[in-house]
This record gives sequence, structure tokens and C-alpha cells, in this order.
Amino acid sequence: MGASTRWSTLVKARLAEMQRLDPGRGEVGPAFWDKRAKRFAAAMAGTAERDPLLARLRRATGPRSTLLDVGAGPGRFALALAPRVERVVAVDSSAVMVEIVARRARRLRLTNVEGVVGAWPDVDVAPASVSVCSYVLPLIADAKRFLRRLDACTIEQAFVYTNAASLDFLTDPLWRHFHGKPRRLGPTYLDLVDVLAELGIPAEVEVVELPTRPHHKNINAAVKAYRDQLLLPDNPAVRHELRGLLSSWLVEEKGRLRPPVRSTPAAIVSWRPQRD
Ligand SMILES: C[S@@+](CC[C@H](N)C(=O)[O-])C[C@H]1O[C@@H](n2cnc3c(N)ncnc32)[C@H](O)[C@@H]1O
Repeated sequence: MGASTRWSTLVKARLAEMQRLDPGRGEVGPAFWDKRAKRFAAAMAGTAERDPLLARLRRATGPRSTLLDVGAGPGRFALALAPRVERVVAVDSSAVMVEIVARRARRLRLTNVEGVVGAWPDVDVAPASVSVCSYVLPLIADAKRFLRRLDACTIEQAFVYTNAASLDFLTDPLWRHFHGKPRRLGPTYLDLVDVLAELGIPAEVEVVELPTRPHHKNINAAVKAYRDQLLLPDNPAVRHELRGLLSSWLVEEKGRLRPPVRSTPAAIVSWRPQRD
């Protein structure tokens, strides 16, 4: 089995499991992100400055650079880089996410940020000096088409940011406790490097540690977030059991709750497009 077929098999099996446990969830399309945009934006606010990818992107860009952020979400990287580059295009398939980027850009008085609503790779944008795609690929079944277009829209350097361990390595014991069997694993950065190799793109990999965010404001918020993440039904028995398990597992930091690890590994996969 080739790398892109393996990738697609892993993603489809994971999405099918999500769909079976929570009908509608297996699509993870714009409606999914529209609904979660506000919560995601609040949870990620202020995280870019501590993120090793931002330092890496700062080194790769300058005042004359253009930046393309694919799946920009609420724009944590796009907006952090905008003051030091010529122009930023933030693409996202969720219109609510793009609205958040536009609102934040106005508040920061940034006039060089353009938001584009559309699902990559079917988006009409001009190539940029540097492109970034952070935490988007693990649920995209056709990684080959997605990456080929990202490469075509990049002039100098492309960066894809993704999990370096299984997406579930923290919540795996909870998943097994409730579902009685392991979760279908998604692809990792190693699969990503293999897909790029299949496209004839030799990539560099840097594994970095991401500081854990203490973002649950209380145990109720944590129960809600983990119930969603673990695809559990919303009933009093499940909430009660999850609350008991989370109460002894989560740790408090600065009045908020986080998992009992200080950081998690992520992979910065980058390449310089080769044009004939
Ligand atoms: C986990 S969030 C990551 C957001 C941002 N890149 C970050 O790291 O904070 C994933 C984002 O990718 C967007 N997305 C998913 N598939 C997409 C696609 N095919 N084209 C454009 N955006 C997509 C979602 O709407 C969501 O905003």
C-alpha cells in the first residue's frame, strides 16, 4: 500500500468511527468548526507567542514576504506574523473562523490581512512566499491533493504543523475505559513525510515540545470538553463518571485545569518547493 493510500485508509477509518459514535460528526466540515470557532479561538488566544512554530515562521519571513495560512482558524499565526510581512492570506472553510480573523485584524489595525472562505485545495489564491498549515491535515482523507496544491502555492518554503505522537496519547486510557476498545488511530507526521516523498518532495522534520495550556476554567468545562473529544453520550451517568476520573487526573495551574503533562510533542514538517 502506498503512503497516500495508507493515509486515506487511516483517516477514513477514524472518521467512520466518529460517525458511528456521533452521527454527523464524521464529516468534520465547516459546520463542525463554525459551531466550535468561538470556543477554539478563546482556548488558543495568546498561545502563538509560546509556540516554537512562530519562531520558525519569523525566521522564514521578512518585510517583503507574503504568507498563506491554510486552515488558519482564528488566525493565531496569521495575525502574529502580519505586522512583519507584506501581506497575509488566511484561508479557512469555516466562515465563522474567517470572521474572527477579520474582526481581530481590525481590532489590531492590521490592513494587510485578507480572509478567504473556502475548502483547500479548491481555493483560488495566488502563490505566497511562505505557506503554513497548522493542525489541519490529520482529518483530510486526500492528503496528496491537498499537499500538491500547497506546494504549488508556495514560492520559498512550506510549513505543515502536526501531532508528533498519536492524537490520542493523552486520552487513550479514558477512551478505552468508556468504549472498551482502542480508538482508530489517525496518521502522524511520519505518514505525512511518506506522502510528501510519494509526491517527490523531500521534507525536513523538527520535533518540538508544545507547552500545555491550562485552559479549562473549571471541572464542568473540562467534562464538557472531554465528553466532546471522547465522543461520549450526554447523560448524567456519563457526566458523573467522567467528572470522577477527570477530578483525579487533571491538575490545577493558575486557577485553571490542564492534563498532567507540561508539554506535548509536535512536528514542524517543512520543504522548499523545487520547480523545474
Ligand atoms: C484545529 S483548527 C487549526 C487552526 C489553526 N491552523 C491553528 O493552528 O490554530 C483546524 C482549522 O482548519 C480548518 N479546515 C479544515 N479543513 C479545511 C480545508 N479543507 N480547507 C480550509 N480550512 C480547513 C477548520 O475550519 C479549522 O478552522
